[in-house]
Amino acid sequence: MARHLITSALPYINGIKHLGNMVGSMLPADVYSRYLRQRGHDVLYICATDEHGTPAELAAKEQGLAVDEFCAQAHDAQKAVYDGFALAFDYFGRSSSRENVEITQHFARKLNENGFIEERAIRQVYSPADSRFLPDRYVEGTCPHCGYDKARGDQCENCTRVLDPTDLINPRSAISGSTDLEVRETKHLFLLQSKLQHEVEEWVSRHEEDWPQLASSIARKWLNEGLHDRAITRDLDWGVPVPADTWPELAAEGKVFYVWFDAPIEYIGATKEWADATGGDWKSWWYDVDADVRYTEFMAKDNVPFHTVMFPATELGVREPWKKVDYVKAFNWLTYYGGKFSTSQKRGVFTDQALDILPADYWRYFLIANAPESDDSSFTWEHFTATVNKDLADTLGNFVNRVLSFSRKRFGEEVPAGAEPGEAESRLGEEIARLLAEYEEHMEALQFRKASAALRALWSAGNSYLEEKAPWLEIKTDKDAAALTLRTAMNLIHLYAVVSEPFIPATSQAMREAFSLTDDTATWVTQEEAKSLSSVPAGTPFTVPPVLFAKLTDEDLAAYKERFGGQEA
Ligand code: 2FM
Ligand code: ZN
Repeated sequence: MARHLITSALPYINGIKHLGNMVGSMLPADVYSRYLRQRGHDVLYICATDEHGTPAELAAKEQGLAVDEFCAQAHDAQKAVYDGFALAFDYFGRSSSRENVEITQHFARKLNENGFIEERAIRQVYSPADSRFLPDRYVEGTCPHCGYDKARGDQCENCTRVLDPTDLINPRSAISGSTDLEVRETKHLFLLQSKLQHEVEEWVSRHEEDWPQLASSIARKWLNEGLHDRAITRDLDWGVPVPADTWPELAAEGKVFYVWFDAPIEYIGATKEWADATGGDWKSWWYDVDADVRYTEFMAKDNVPFHTVMFPATELGVREPWKKVDYVKAFNWLTYYGGKFSTSQKRGVFTDQALDILPADYWRYFLIANAPESDDSSFTWEHFTATVNKDLADTLGNFVNRVLSFSRKRFGEEVPAGAEPGEAESRLGEEIARLLAEYEEHMEALQFRKASAALRALWSAGNSYLEEKAPWLEIKTDKDAAALTLRTAMNLIHLYAVVSEPFIPATSQAMREAFSLTDDTATWVTQEEAKSLSSVPAGTPFTVPPVLFAKLTDEDLAAYKERFGGQEA
């Protein structure tokens, strides 16, 4: 059985992320990791803050902090939110770590030894108004390919093409808006990606069939345009220093590596951080492992070129057997009422605000059930409150509460025995086993919306059974029949606790803890167990948990819309 290495795109350090970031990387990676762990796989889920680059420097400056101090605080603030969302990373590292510096410098030395790095004098955009060289993303202008007028000098986020600042039409400084830009000469290291084009192409063609179409089409598009040599150093104070043993002159000038060079290497760096903290064996996940490890990456579509082409090119050029990605799970955008979530314009819902309003499980379920997998999907408060009320409060929460309260009232605080299972129970068992198999199939295929639908169908099957048997009527004529119905329904609750865990871990724990089962260590449900619905035997003591999901009212909806704005700005 292969071990599973899982990473989600590293959230940038400069601020708390919004729900769109969460659903496009970390949350689905967590759901998938939890699922695989429950199925008994050996899983390592790694993430980290992406801390280098100009935006970190600027954010620190804005807060009057030294950049290292800013990053340390901002890392802790993000980590606290992710703990709140119950993201079960094996390690959440920092790209500014000593480990990442070591590995990034090693990669650069190897690339150099292998003839894939060259020192070149370049002419770079300098802004007298800002008294600095402008890094690529701080030059803005019109995209020469699609005409988008807010394209950045590193990439057009409208058409995802990678750009050079000098490609932009009508360039301006993104810091001051100044159009008085000049070009000055300075030396930088270039990664000779053009020399790696064929190898990357060959590697992509061996993998793209397995990838979702969104990932392979973006990789293809990028390869078709041809891989260009890219400057991988910058004139900044903050970053992985160019190693002085190899490039003394550039090191003396204080050059650092470009953030997109060291960020993906931090997937490895953070694994080493994990190993240094826990005594784990980091290399056994990354080096010379081939098919022993299955590596799955999660990211939004703007990150796809870097993960399917640029980072693999780096790994190939190092000429050492570093693990490369097996499966790229890419997401479209989650929009806010059809418009962009925007950190800078403060539109949409940020992850810390979300947790102020409601516990993580509400968000986890809604976001995954509506993940922008095959297309963009839109967040609206109307859709959110309706989904919470229907799926979580009614279909799941109400079922659990109704069954347990009614049974306690009529039969006391132990699971009642009652009649032997009959035709209705065997039909139910078949249905549950079928839906469970469907759920498993979609999870294995990383089809999160479909997996959510199967989970919801499992919850609904319990409601249909309860309506059909109507124990509140059975109790009047046949107590044993009512007891059988309730015992079967309680077995469903236990099954829901186990299989809902990847989506709603806290609620799952509350459902499971309702039963005082001795030795309740089940991490998954077999087909046989699903059919027989008998893992909670008669006589098991139980308690009635507090309401699992509060129903959201019209007043709640109005208040959310008032606070966050209900429409695209
Ligand atoms: O797009 C972003 O927010 C980047 N911080 C993602 C980096 S992913 C990885 F390569 F580090
Ligand atoms: Zn464009």
